[in-house]
Amino acid sequence: PASPPPHPAWLPPEAFRAIGARRVLVHGEGPPVETVHDEVARACARYGGRVERTAAGPVDLVLALRDSGPLPEVVPPAARTAPDPDGGSPGDEGFLLTRSDGVTIVLADAPVGLLYGLFHLVRLGEAAFTGEQPARTHRPALRRRMLDHWDNVAVHPVMGQVERGYAGGSIFWRDGRPRGDRERLRAYGRLLASTGVNAISVNNVNVGPTEALLLTERLDDVAEIADLLRPYGVRVHLSVTFAAPVLLGGLPTADPLDEQVRDWWESTTRRVYARVPDFGGYVVKADSEGQPGPFSYGRDHADGANLLAAALAPHGGVVHWRAFVYDHRQDWRDRTTDRARAAYDHFAPLDGRFADNVVLQVKFGPVDFQPREPVSPVIAAMPATRLAVELQVTQEYTGQQWHACYLAPWWHEVLAFRLWGPGERSVADVLADVPGPGPRRGGDLVAVANVGDDPFWCGHPLAQANLYAFGRLAWDPRLDPTALLDEWIDLTFPASTVGDPTLVRETLHAVLDDSWRIYERYTAPLGVGFMVNPAGHYGPGVDGYEYSRWGTYHFADRDGVGVDRTRATGTGMTGQYPPPWSQVYESLEQCPDELLLFFHHVPYSHVLHSGSTVIQHIYDTHFAGVAEVEAMRDRWAGLAGVIDPAVHERVTERLAEQLRCATEWRDQVNTYFFRKSGVPDARGRRIH
Ligand code: GCU
Repeated sequence: PASPPPHPAWLPPEAFRAIGARRVLVHGEGPPVETVHDEVARACARYGGRVERTAAGPVDLVLALRDSGPLPEVVPPAARTAPDPDGGSPGDEGFLLTRSDGVTIVLADAPVGLLYGLFHLVRLGEAAFTGEQPARTHRPALRRRMLDHWDNVAVHPVMGQVERGYAGGSIFWRDGRPRGDRERLRAYGRLLASTGVNAISVNNVNVGPTEALLLTERLDDVAEIADLLRPYGVRVHLSVTFAAPVLLGGLPTADPLDEQVRDWWESTTRRVYARVPDFGGYVVKADSEGQPGPFSYGRDHADGANLLAAALAPHGGVVHWRAFVYDHRQDWRDRTTDRARAAYDHFAPLDGRFADNVVLQVKFGPVDFQPREPVSPVIAAMPATRLAVELQVTQEYTGQQWHACYLAPWWHEVLAFRLWGPGERSVADVLADVPGPGPRRGGDLVAVANVGDDPFWCGHPLAQANLYAFGRLAWDPRLDPTALLDEWIDLTFPASTVGDPTLVRETLHAVLDDSWRIYERYTAPLGVGFMVNPAGHYGPGVDGYEYSRWGTYHFADRDGVGVDRTRATGTGMTGQYPPPWSQVYESLEQCPDELLLFFHHVPYSHVLHSGSTVIQHIYDTHFAGVAEVEAMRDRWAGLAGVIDPAVHERVTERLAEQLRCATEWRDQVNTYFFRKSGVPDARGRRIH
């Protein structure tokens, strides 16, 4: 059943005013070109412009596909020959933008390029129609920009409809069936296309019995989603279970080297492509947290991934094989097993063995989407393997969309991390295949999605900024997070629709710019991670995981805290990094403060680079973090009556909860460490 139309997010009608007021020519054919035409037609109907398919008179804007017959006369000769300064052509997804003689021109080689060009103009607004603009080609830096939905088809007894979902139900599924809300899915496709996202997987990586059927008897459900998203250039992928040949095919084994198993995957995959010709491929979580995998058959993960890759290759599909493989039945007494080592230990030895259409999907950090972790050592360790770096847009460990936490600065830091030290290639360079020593395979940026059937898509209206920024960073990982926030503000809160545009902009920056670091300050200190409530990962639980089987410990005692991952005295994980990081992280003197407790166990009296002791840092940051949330709440109050009251009210309610929860974090963490250490706060503040 359809529910009320969702919030327009960053594409309200007003964002199309500049285009809608113009005379526009749309030239070309193909589904995304029709999407372009419909968008322009709708805008023109509202703002007084007109759109045509063949030039009948003077125009202000031409959006044209180059190989769709002769270009309209109005395109000046200079633009026809793509005088692109870097000599490249727009290619599969890019577009060329220029403006001369009062006409703005977007040319593309492929229909979806035209769609990306249109949304670029939307971002530019009036600026797209002023002055002369030399030709410039825009192309995505990364070939695949993907969101993984952890949506369950059937409601999971513990995880519900969406695993780690904080925005209500699924946009795809409800109670074991497709939800059938076509309007919402089209709106979603449109939002994704406007940021540059071009792929999604439609079900959880933990594949249950109902979800397994999407590959076979319930393929029509997947095809319907693919049909709705195709006009937006978004391809559909599916999470599959490695045990599918047994579960669905009735075979006695899922052994990747078994002939019958190969045949089953081949014929099953052929049927998938017969139904969904542009199907993207499979996502697999194998031998991880209880999911089946090749280890059951004495095979390794290259055998497993290559099996699926072989079935997909003839059709141009890829397998995203997740590197999130570790022992989730650890004994807390055993200090030699280190969860942070696991992905590297499992996968680095397999470099060079993966088929060309395997994409090894690596979480950005070695543990699990924490608000602070070092970059995963796997990324530098696999030069012969295609990689995807996996981020988490859904805020599992960053406030679950109750807390305002703008994550783009964190992702930017990860993407800008120089894998082989200053001046060397970054994570973004590796994914974008920028020339240089080290990995040269290129890769994808993937994130776990944060949307649901909530009227604001994300529960927290400001969490829309994370979804927006993810897509834009996947298009160009070098974009600046503050500038991206400006883009999002301009689109979401158009100046003509709010009471005081300057106040709106300043307030949103005041609330969001530093919100990730604020979150870091009032939660687990100095990169140690977790300390979350094990029931759901929300709110503080300092010892919540300390004696559990999950391998995420902080080892606090009366003298100190932190995990010794050094080669000298600890688990040796620092040795998984290439120089200089292997030395920097090993060294107590050089290790950056924010990662100190990730790599070292230190006394509370240890003095940080900041000049503070560890214990005083814990107190100071926790007091500061809560004070900053109070300031966020007060700033936000100033927007009452200035923006849409529904948005204002929802955010106000969430900020109240953020303040309550941050206060709880502060008091539990400070009290915990005061009780352990007996060291009082140097500034005499109240610790309970
Ligand atoms: C986290 C999360 C799980 C999820 C897992 C994964 O551990 O809590 O719900 O299944 O990551 O990425 O597979």
